[in-house]
Amino acid sequence: MLRYVTTNAGKVREARDYLDDGVAQLDFDYPEIQAPDLKPIAARGARAAYRHAGEPVLVDDAGLFVDGLDGFPGPYSSYVEETLGIRRVSELARDDAAPDPARAAFRCVLAYCDGESFDASPDPIDRADRAAAAAADQNDETADLPVKLFEGVVRGRMVEARGEGGFGYDPVFEHDGTTFAEMTAAEKNAISHRGRALEKFAEWYAGR
Ligand code: IMP
Repeated sequence: MLRYVTTNAGKVREARDYLDDGVAQLDFDYPEIQAPDLKPIAARGARAAYRHAGEPVLVDDAGLFVDGLDGFPGPYSSYVEETLGIRRVSELARDDAAPDPARAAFRCVLAYCDGESFDASPDPIDRADRAAAAAADQNDETADLPVKLFEGVVRGRMVEARGEGGFGYDPVFEHDGTTFAEMTAAEKNAISHRGRALEKFAEWYAGR
């Protein structure tokens, strides 16, 4: 059984829309490395989760990237949500003098690991990360485990908080005139960063 590695049960519900009953939650808080990009963070997490579970795992790492703030808070979205808070991030984005500073994107990277290698794993960042991980941890024979990455992106803009649904930055992220927190779960899932990454993953996984 595929394990979706997250402490957030809402993410597993979203994953079931794409993977039906073939996925179960693995409530495992893997250690997150610091990096400016989500991909190496998710890849490391997938290796750690596979070592822990010994079963196929899918790790989800996501963040909000504001154009006018050079991609902030990006991989630090969770920490910034807890410290500054989502309303302050939205204000900062909208206060900036740059033209259209509030443009932003949610990004989600899914990292899959089942201990096997892949016929084709063309992700250059994945390969570089694998080499770096192996070099950093020469005593760990699983540091070089292959990981397959899938990315989903949705663009939108930062607005004043609206809506009661969703989680995290959903109330301050507007897509086509509606915030993610104003959408039903199904509406959000159909266009979200996570939904797009899950769609790519589900298509690949079906042939595995
Ligand atoms: P994580 O990948 O679950 O650790 O999420 C990182 C940060 O991005 C947290 O602050 C989440 O609240 C936020 N985040 C991730 N996905 C979403 C989403 O779909 N909507 C709103 N916030 C999200």
